[in-house]
Amino acid sequence: MKRAQIKIINLGLTLLAEQGQTLGKVLSQADIPVRFECGQKGVCGKCQVKIISGSLSPPDRHEKYFLEFLGLDPSVTRLACLARITQDLEIEIPEESLLQPVKILDKGITTTFPLRPSFRQCFITLDKEKVTSSPAINEAIAREINFPNLVFSLETLNQLGEAVRETPQKLQVTIFQNKEICSIESDSTPSPLLGVAIDLGTTTVVGELINLENGETLAVASGLNQQLRFGSDVVARLYEATSSEARKKSLQRAAGRTINSLLNKLTKRPGISRENIMEVVVAGNTVMNHLLLGLPAHTLARLPFAPVFQALPELNSSELGLNISPWGKVYVAPNIQSFIGGDISAGLLACRLFEKSGRHLYLDLGTNGEIIINDHGELWATSTAAGPAFEGVGLSSGMMATTGAIYQIKIKDVGSSLEVKTIGRGKPRGICGTGFVDLLSIALRQKWIRDNGRITNRQNKIEVRPQVGLGQEDIRKLQMALAAIKTGVKLLMSKLKLDYSELDTIYLAGAFGTELNIHHAMDIGLLPQIDPAKVVFIGNASLAGARCLLLNYPLRKKLTAWVKKIKFLSLAQEKEFQDTFLKSLNLEPFPQKGKKGKYI
Ligand code: FES
Repeated sequence: MKRAQIKIINLGLTLLAEQGQTLGKVLSQADIPVRFECGQKGVCGKCQVKIISGSLSPPDRHEKYFLEFLGLDPSVTRLACLARITQDLEIEIPEESLLQPVKILDKGITTTFPLRPSFRQCFITLDKEKVTSSPAINEAIAREINFPNLVFSLETLNQLGEAVRETPQKLQVTIFQNKEICSIESDSTPSPLLGVAIDLGTTTVVGELINLENGETLAVASGLNQQLRFGSDVVARLYEATSSEARKKSLQRAAGRTINSLLNKLTKRPGISRENIMEVVVAGNTVMNHLLLGLPAHTLARLPFAPVFQALPELNSSELGLNISPWGKVYVAPNIQSFIGGDISAGLLACRLFEKSGRHLYLDLGTNGEIIINDHGELWATSTAAGPAFEGVGLSSGMMATTGAIYQIKIKDVGSSLEVKTIGRGKPRGICGTGFVDLLSIALRQKWIRDNGRITNRQNKIEVRPQVGLGQEDIRKLQMALAAIKTGVKLLMSKLKLDYSELDTIYLAGAFGTELNIHHAMDIGLLPQIDPAKVVFIGNASLAGARCLLLNYPLRKKLTAWVKKIKFLSLAQEKEFQDTFLKSLNLEPFPQKGKKGKYI
């Protein structure tokens, strides 16, 4: 196979590739963070590259039509996922085609549970007398440590034989969950026992390195999920994973690489070694969990729409290719249901929803909205496909919460201009979720739009800054997203015959974060109207929950038992679903007070 050289001028990189491969494949293999948002299917148009010199295979009809539709000249701009390499080439990857660093939620609610990590170390001294008074050396150790029923693997018995060649001998023994001896070392200097809590998101991943002996956080790091090149959302990933065994394996490897590169970042500090990481706890959505473990995902995508597991015991890290201690374990927070995963069970744990009396609503608002209600200990959950509009996807000025995104909009007086705040204080490039909530609320109050979403001015658009704002089509998409969330909340509240005024707390997790203006969110019907003091932002609750599970392993059993008690409401099967959805399309607050059983 002939080779070709690809120079990426603006990144200062040169790659070697086989002729005939798509440029997209070569870029993704080299981990160049290109926005392959449709999973390299040639339908999102985000993977544009500019040809500086040389040429690629001629565009096929689809690519040519697509580029012309986007107003681009196919002799200059190409879609990396469709164009094939035919010769040496110089290209430029425009900034818009590269994944930008995203504002990552790395702070979660602070919860305290007693420190009971899976791993602990004991230091014992074994002398001749202790050994000879026991039926075997491992029995002498078990007596010394004073845990009944300790299990020694063949490997640890081998270590033991070596370690006690001479007595008296000082031994460092590492024990897993008070039942299994993992390693026995002699004369070793004490090494720290470390663990990592991970929030494995579809787009981003955040990890916290923690000293298991005292719960101290040593480092926090984040990055992008390396599965992004297979598509930006769970639907695209599911499509890929179910297309072939090889694709499923590629997705699993990408998940492993994502975590390993996070571990590298976390252990950069001198004196910290990945070998000392004994356990990793992962909280991810159901799809991410399946892909990380290399499990079949077709049951999630098609009937019976069910995960292949709800809860698992700890797995050996080597099975997943994670570079930590050879005795390392991986624990995955339990899934609740096919589209309510371990990220949510971990979040519920972090805000102690299971243990609360009273009535509490937990909302995780993202592309998939997860809604959980605790009504005096009875827990119900549902999920709703809100779509990516509030993440800025598919809107004319929409963008993720990255540099240049308007995240806050205010107006002082009627007729005065809009004041905006942007991430990184840069020039506004677009608007992200919280900015859209502000803008919709202001537009309603100023009567720039009616409550049915129709724009009242002749230009048929609302501009915040030149070329940045909302068009009629954008408002429709936001209305659909809002209606999906509102419908889920309304039907779940109705199922439990609850009035919004009876809610003690709304816990808000997920994409919006603390920048969300609660009053504006209530105006447009994103949140029910309750006393704003009862709305609690819990930030990255998934990471906070993973941390709890890492530092207190008995919680895993409790969480699994709690999760099994959650009842699930399937919105699509509710006969009032259609009607409720249509009524929820109006941009108006939730009904403030209704008769019990009639809140729709
Ligand atoms: S068009 Fe190339 S990744 Fe979507």
